[in-house]
Amino acid sequence: MKKLFILTGIVLLLLSVSCNRPNEADAVKLDTNWKFKTGDDPAWASPGFDDASWGTIDPKTIWEEQGYKGYNGFAWYRFKTLVRSSLKDQNNMNDSLKIVLGKIDDCDQVFLNGELIGENGKTIYTKALPSDGFIRAQDKWNLERRYILASNDPRIYWDRENLVAVRCFDQGGAGGMFGKPFEIAMTGLRDHLNFDFASTAFIFSGDSLVTKNFSVINLTGTERLKGELIVEAVQCDNGIRIYSNRSIIDLPPHQKVEKSVTFRNKSAVPATLHVSFKEAMTRKTVSEDVEIPYILTPKSPAEPRINGAKIFGVRPWSPFQYKVAATGQPPLKYRATDLPEGLAINAENGLITGSLKKKGEYVVRLTVENQRGYAERDLKIVVGDVISLTPPMGWNSWNCWGLSVSDKKVRQSADAMKSSGLIDHGWSYINIDDGWEDTHDKNGSILPNYKFPNMPGLCGYVHSLGLKVGIYSSPGPRTCGGYEGSYGFEAKDAMTYAGWGIDYLKYDWCSYGNIAPDPTPEQMKKPYKEMKHALRKANRDIHYSLCQYGMGDVWTWGAEVDGNSWRTTGDIEDTWQSLSSIGFSQGKCSPSSAPGRWNDPDMLVVGLVGWGPALHHTRLTPSEQYTHLTLWSLLAAPLLVGCDLEQLDAFTLNLLTNDEVLAVNQDPLGRQAVQIRKTDDYEVWSRDLEDGSKAVGLFNKTERSLCVPVDMKDLHVDGKRSMRDLWAQTDLGKVRGHFEMRTRPHGARMVILSK
Ligand code: GAL
Repeated sequence: MKKLFILTGIVLLLLSVSCNRPNEADAVKLDTNWKFKTGDDPAWASPGFDDASWGTIDPKTIWEEQGYKGYNGFAWYRFKTLVRSSLKDQNNMNDSLKIVLGKIDDCDQVFLNGELIGENGKTIYTKALPSDGFIRAQDKWNLERRYILASNDPRIYWDRENLVAVRCFDQGGAGGMFGKPFEIAMTGLRDHLNFDFASTAFIFSGDSLVTKNFSVINLTGTERLKGELIVEAVQCDNGIRIYSNRSIIDLPPHQKVEKSVTFRNKSAVPATLHVSFKEAMTRKTVSEDVEIPYILTPKSPAEPRINGAKIFGVRPWSPFQYKVAATGQPPLKYRATDLPEGLAINAENGLITGSLKKKGEYVVRLTVENQRGYAERDLKIVVGDVISLTPPMGWNSWNCWGLSVSDKKVRQSADAMKSSGLIDHGWSYINIDDGWEDTHDKNGSILPNYKFPNMPGLCGYVHSLGLKVGIYSSPGPRTCGGYEGSYGFEAKDAMTYAGWGIDYLKYDWCSYGNIAPDPTPEQMKKPYKEMKHALRKANRDIHYSLCQYGMGDVWTWGAEVDGNSWRTTGDIEDTWQSLSSIGFSQGKCSPSSAPGRWNDPDMLVVGLVGWGPALHHTRLTPSEQYTHLTLWSLLAAPLLVGCDLEQLDAFTLNLLTNDEVLAVNQDPLGRQAVQIRKTDDYEVWSRDLEDGSKAVGLFNKTERSLCVPVDMKDLHVDGKRSMRDLWAQTDLGKVRGHFEMRTRPHGARMVILSK
């Protein structure tokens, strides 16, 4: 017995060791003791300058959160430290020194001992005179700042005090240094060699064949890297090795080698790919673990099934468009009985259109039929003041295309929303984010730029597919991407959008910060009220999405300015840090959520993302993505995917098409989940549903597999309940009092408890 324990102990130790990230090399930590001052003066780069009167700042968090609310413009950070030459002895690859400064919002120039060494993430190798050209780059805020200097670079003062001075420029929104890490260290093998797992997705063939292509890249410009590459795939729950391969690779400078591995593993079984490279000369190893996606959502049956929202709000006289979302073997025939006068359904594609004149409620019986059978369900239509009675589900261009969005990409995304089948699960909005605007013409009409030659045509095309269209603007003169905003043109813009056929407006604070630099609550509401009135005059139901990153606790007043949703946070990124800190802090907004009034913790960062033309697969592990969808569904959050829909991989599509999970997001009661239990290791959230049952999410915040316990008393549930696993769509029998579920590292389980 004891042996078994020791053995289990060793296996657990190995498993947990394999989950840890590689050790950071010895380094000078730069995460405290920074000096800070707003303004701009070239003298501040100099080591001789006396900064004793400056304030202090934490570089890990933007300056807005440290007493510089709403500050835009120049600011400087300074840090003094001894850099010992003994650093060099701790590493065999000791030819270069790196200065790593987390991320910087928006732009930076970095000086070492008075000399410029880098700009916006790019090292400057030769002596250069600082110019202000660097502030034109507004899209670099999300880049890691890693400046690398040869160890004999005269700008480094070995064994003396060094001054790192960072000149930042922020155009709007959040500003300054943030993220991690902040350090000075010698470059190690990790800086010379990289694995690229993110360019391609895992490929699944049948139920059990998995293929992964990846590359090993030599980042150095001068050195050849030779060594052994070991690739192993191991099942997580039992440690069984399902694949192993060793090969020698020899990489010339700046070259990469492509690798492809294929092995058998049942698609629902979690496993990890371990890849390591042992460099021959230094005998140093770099390794990385990649969680292999596991597929949980069962295939939709051939028999018809009706999905999507069960309740739909519309204003009197507004154009009505509701697509009955349904799966099943095609062709499907759609019917709706008891449709109120003014509406009609297209039997071939399930699109209900028309308009309703009078306020009131109607219950319509939907039927979808195919050769295999039929499905029926009620749809409640509420003609009243409030629209978006369930959170919007759709796509937004920002997280993949950034400012490079175009008419062509939007049409292709709409086509893909349909051909991928997402539309059959209730996904319906195609939203154009920043980057479409040109200027207001002499009549004050906003003109799209050359990438959008025919807006009404584009909207008509998207509508013809049974989808809806969204657009983006700012109450300020300029958007966050520097394009034309709506300031002074609100009424005209709302009419233009309605004329084009727009169904959704994301209205982003951005340069309004220059008009109201330190806004009072009233000043915060003012531009949103203005657009509210403009939209209400437009005679079209346009979902009004406020985006001002949660300022002034927008969730407490978003409904007052008629917002249908409001961003509660800054921009999300595809990292666990970003996802978990945003997702698990949403409890504070729960009470404000209601049908038509949704808290928006930002978009879904799944699939192929990138904020610009170059895309990569999300850096979230598959388990983290299950957490993302589980939490966002419980939070009744708008579900807007931000990935390239044309390149949806099998895992992402499976993740986005679990109708039982999506039904929780779309539940007509519209009640947002509350945090039931929070420890350092796990959280439990629960949401009341319309039919009296409870949806419960169990979240593992640790990097090891964990049994998450639920005390049903915390849920105010007495007696027995039936429990159903929503991801697997299987019944788990009855529970009473207490239950617990094994949960993957950073992963989630989601159940419904019903009587
Ligand atoms: C940000 C906003 C992003 C995106 C971007 C466009 O302020 O949070 O979601 O819309 O602006 O420039």
